[in-house]
Amino acid sequence: MSKRYTITAALPYTNGPIHIGHLAGVYVPADIYSRYLRLTGNDVAFICGSDEHGVPITIKAKKEGVTPQDIVDKYHAIIKQSFIDFGITFDNYSRTTAKIHHDTAQEFFKTLYDKNEFVEEVTEQLYDEEANQFLADRFVTGTCPKCGNEEAYGDQCESCGSSLNATDLINPKSAITGNVPSLKETKHWFLPLNKHEDFLREWILKGHKKDWKPNVYGQVKSWIDDGLRPRAVTRDLDWGIPVPVEGGEGKVLYVWFDAPIGYISSTKEWAAREGKNWEDYWKDEDTKLVHFIGKDNIVFHCIIFPSMLKAEGSYILPENVPANEFLNLEGQKLSTSKNWAVWLPDYLIDFPNQQDVLRYALTANAPESKDNDFTWKDFQARNNNELVAIFGNFINRVVVLTNKYYDGIIPTPSDYSTIDEETLAAVKAYPAVISSSIERYRFREASQELMNLARLGNKYLADEEPWKTFKTDEARTKTVMFVALQIASALAVLSEPFLPFTSTKLKGILNSNDNGWEDVSTKDILIPASHQIGKGELLFSKIEDSEIQIQLDKLEASKKANEAEKKATEPQKDEITFEDFTKLDLRVGTIIEAEKMPKTKKLLVLKVDTGIDTRTIVSGIAESFSPEDVIGKRVTVLVNLAPRALRGVESQGMILMTEDETGKLVFVNPDTSTALSTGIEGVKNGLQIS
Ligand code: 2FM
Ligand code: ZN
Repeated sequence: MSKRYTITAALPYTNGPIHIGHLAGVYVPADIYSRYLRLTGNDVAFICGSDEHGVPITIKAKKEGVTPQDIVDKYHAIIKQSFIDFGITFDNYSRTTAKIHHDTAQEFFKTLYDKNEFVEEVTEQLYDEEANQFLADRFVTGTCPKCGNEEAYGDQCESCGSSLNATDLINPKSAITGNVPSLKETKHWFLPLNKHEDFLREWILKGHKKDWKPNVYGQVKSWIDDGLRPRAVTRDLDWGIPVPVEGGEGKVLYVWFDAPIGYISSTKEWAAREGKNWEDYWKDEDTKLVHFIGKDNIVFHCIIFPSMLKAEGSYILPENVPANEFLNLEGQKLSTSKNWAVWLPDYLIDFPNQQDVLRYALTANAPESKDNDFTWKDFQARNNNELVAIFGNFINRVVVLTNKYYDGIIPTPSDYSTIDEETLAAVKAYPAVISSSIERYRFREASQELMNLARLGNKYLADEEPWKTFKTDEARTKTVMFVALQIASALAVLSEPFLPFTSTKLKGILNSNDNGWEDVSTKDILIPASHQIGKGELLFSKIEDSEIQIQLDKLEASKKANEAEKKATEPQKDEITFEDFTKLDLRVGTIIEAEKMPKTKKLLVLKVDTGIDTRTIVSGIAESFSPEDVIGKRVTVLVNLAPRALRGVESQGMILMTEDETGKLVFVNPDTSTALSTGIEGVKNGLQIS
């Protein structure tokens, strides 16, 4: 039965382009789900837009010497284009600087204000005297009181996911001047989440939300169990939506208050354009509301926004919030500031028209239940071993043989063999199998079932060998090709949510576009005899090692640039006196034994003859030198460093190291003429802990 769905995908911040982490975590799964629901005849509003307020945008604008509006205009256009390029079929993509959004958010705030749903309070907030500004959200960093992460922000700790008030931070520091903030009184409006605790407990914990993903349910349960506190929903900032009530002058709505309302304003914009009633999508109990987000957004979508909707009183609540975990890249956390990412516009330059390859690789390896790693090698393997070797190969064989044997006209089959009947019955089972996975938000599993259908096609051809029977049994060959063409047609339909560009191409090749999802399981014939198909065209092509190497080199370059920048920006250490310097007892020694410290990558355990004794020194140089490289080497040793235990081995000194002009780690060599100056360099640069 057809149902109405409002599907939202987290509004991306417009302070940079989007990368594979965004695509894998939110937009591809949301698009698969929305496409699937449309294909199965549901009424879908798939909603998104740019999140254009918040502190990071102001910070970026300040840094670049432009206005926040300039920043959001630039990235809104880039992000919107990326979504179009990757086939993300939003019904509407709006932006939170749009007038309709400002009006909607202000009206929402006003309604809660009029209903006395806020607590108005003058409290002491962090203030930067030098910048003359209150420090909220990302304008302040400090230590998370929950997990000890030293880089938590004023509104959230990205390490443990806790939502914070800026005054919760231990050792807060202004992100503008680096100063320790003072406290200054200011008035704000708070959403008393504690007041909604019973409702949340009932709705999430006692309700039917046990079918939510365990990561989402678990996080929400632990927050509620910890006890909820009032949360400020206004800020003393100048970029954002003005607070629309008396006393709100000079203040704006907290970005996380306005952003989820962006789903509503974007729906309104769409409904007005399409002649629909937006309220059907937000206020009718029969509508299913589903929020696709990343795990750092769980608290906002499962606690704060539902409390806002409940307090307002006329809205439905989400049916599900299928949050994904994070995607890493080549073993490291994706990072915009460190340029450790695969940006979508860059991907398309290097892999033009290969959007489906990325969609597929990200889906097959989606971080659905735990953080996952994207590697270029896996991307290449998904393409070469699955898309090319299984899916593409099957379609290519069917299309080429049909053209070769029958000039592209689908032959008339004779009686089916048992294998034919079993194969066609197996094809008919796929829509239900894939549907079941998609409806449980298991998109990886669904994508693998799709690939299994292509595998079935390959196996069928390999077993029935039409290229052999062609010379001996004309009728059998026709039947086999007819059956194979039915499988190809099924693939054209069922691949649409996952591989939309391929599906369109394949429908074009088969010259057939009129089957729906249900038809694959109900119709005996998806593509009839005598139908003319088109000429073959490769759906996928092999990705060479050299193409992958280019990507790996790019990442390596980012790594180097980060290291260089880190060095360049590392402030000089506190001055020391000559007396301090003379405390160092430096001797020339010889390494007489060396071995790797078991179960570590970096450490070598050295025996060093220092002239006064032979002692053990644990040195962090194993990534640059093997034990054989260093045995016999004369080195400069700091012998009076207090001993310390490293992995249970007491290290009794330090070998001096420095970097040469290429950044390579080298010994401060006591024997060469350059040694002295290098040695002094080494001291200046800070000694390498050995
Ligand atoms: O984390 C983010 O990128 C936020 N901009 C998501 C906002 S989702 C919503 F509520 F709008
Ligand atoms: Zn934390």
